[in-house]
Amino acid sequence: MNPISPFFLVQLQILLPPASYSLESSVLEGYSHDESSQKAVMPLAVVWPENAGQIAAVLKLCNEQRIPVTARGGGSSLEGNAVPSPGGIVLSLEKMNTVLEILPEDFQVRLQPGVIYDDLNRQLARFGLFFAPGPSSGDVATIGGMVGNNAGGMNALRYGVTRDHVLRLQVALADGALLWFGTRAMKSSSGFDLVRLMVGSEGMLGIVTEIVLRLHGLPERRTALAHFPTLETAAQAVFEVMRSGILPGALELMDAVSIQHLNIFKKWSWPETPTLLFEFHGAPRGIAEELEITRQLCQEIGATTFREAASPAEREQLWAGRKEITRAEQDIFAGHIFFKGDIAVPLSQYVPTIQKAQNLAEEHGLSISAFGHAGDGNLHTTIPALPGDAEACIRAEKLMDDLIRFALSVGGTASGEHGIGLAKRKYLSEEHGAAVEVMRRIKQVLDPNGILNPGKMFLE
Ligand code: LAC
Ligand code: ZN
Repeated sequence: MNPISPFFLVQLQILLPPASYSLESSVLEGYSHDESSQKAVMPLAVVWPENAGQIAAVLKLCNEQRIPVTARGGGSSLEGNAVPSPGGIVLSLEKMNTVLEILPEDFQVRLQPGVIYDDLNRQLARFGLFFAPGPSSGDVATIGGMVGNNAGGMNALRYGVTRDHVLRLQVALADGALLWFGTRAMKSSSGFDLVRLMVGSEGMLGIVTEIVLRLHGLPERRTALAHFPTLETAAQAVFEVMRSGILPGALELMDAVSIQHLNIFKKWSWPETPTLLFEFHGAPRGIAEELEITRQLCQEIGATTFREAASPAEREQLWAGRKEITRAEQDIFAGHIFFKGDIAVPLSQYVPTIQKAQNLAEEHGLSISAFGHAGDGNLHTTIPALPGDAEACIRAEKLMDDLIRFALSVGGTASGEHGIGLAKRKYLSEEHGAAVEVMRRIKQVLDPNGILNPGKMFLE
């Protein structure tokens, strides 16, 4: 690794207070990777700006010096989106973690990008409001990171993903310009939608320095777990419930292998069969009725059990199970690398896609777990492999290839909510064809020197 140039260091020292940057290798090490299995890359430096002006100034300097900058929130990216670009610095938003203004009557909040999802919702709960998407990593994921990856989560089915909630963004561009995009009006037909362009751009078009989000009123909730004998019956329940006009707050699927992992990790004994987790959001009487209709439909379809969470503690327990699948896998398969999938497909293809995954796993002699946001067709798969077992890694890679290509062939996407990062780059052209050239041109206009998280999303 080239050391940081003395000139660059002096300039950084002029722009930032001493506690706002580090060159120490023990610190850099912690910022050299994210939660993906991508290879770590040591950054030249980590900087923790405290305001938008400092971010803009650092970008201007890096642009002049052609130093890559990788923006980072909680570091929970799963595709290498936050792995430093070689020869670059990490710009951490951790210190910019203030909720600036809650506007209850507008159902809006203005905040800094480093605010953690769960912390935001704790503050909003006092006003009877919440920011809905519900990523399972909400205890570490920051709002800026969610904007960068267009994160979804468990409530996206009813309320939409991050992109559907962002009204305004203050953005520092590569050349150090600081601009506002968007409006606080709930709708707008004014000009190109630069806010939606920025959301999901993985820190490659600019760095978000302030965010205005749209919120929802905190609903009453009822939660139920249903076990099914087969994937087909579980899928039929998803379809019938949604066709009945019910729009659940969440509708999650866990396959038998995922439940097996949870049982080991949590020392539970849930039946190891396809399982749906439902949550209904709304007014008390309405959701009581939705729950009863769903219970009836599930029983008619052949659910072996349907159990409502009887207390808030039980509700938390059901959700803890769902949210901790990734942690359970990391714990059970410590030392493994993970080949992770985040495909999304049209609803009719959800079960065929899971079956395809299971068949491929059998063919390749690998174990695969499948779980995800069944209500919106987003499927997560995990294949653990030992890094020393090169042959298993090749087979896992091949399986992922086949599965993603299957998803594309039925009209799906390579990434429902985790982004492209490093891991999914080769599918961008397969999914978008010549439209990738338009993306490249947009990148070129906004970041002509290619300093913003280079190497991500596009294969060079
Ligand atoms: C989840 C993450 C993996 O849904 O997106 O748990
Ligand atoms: Zn997910």
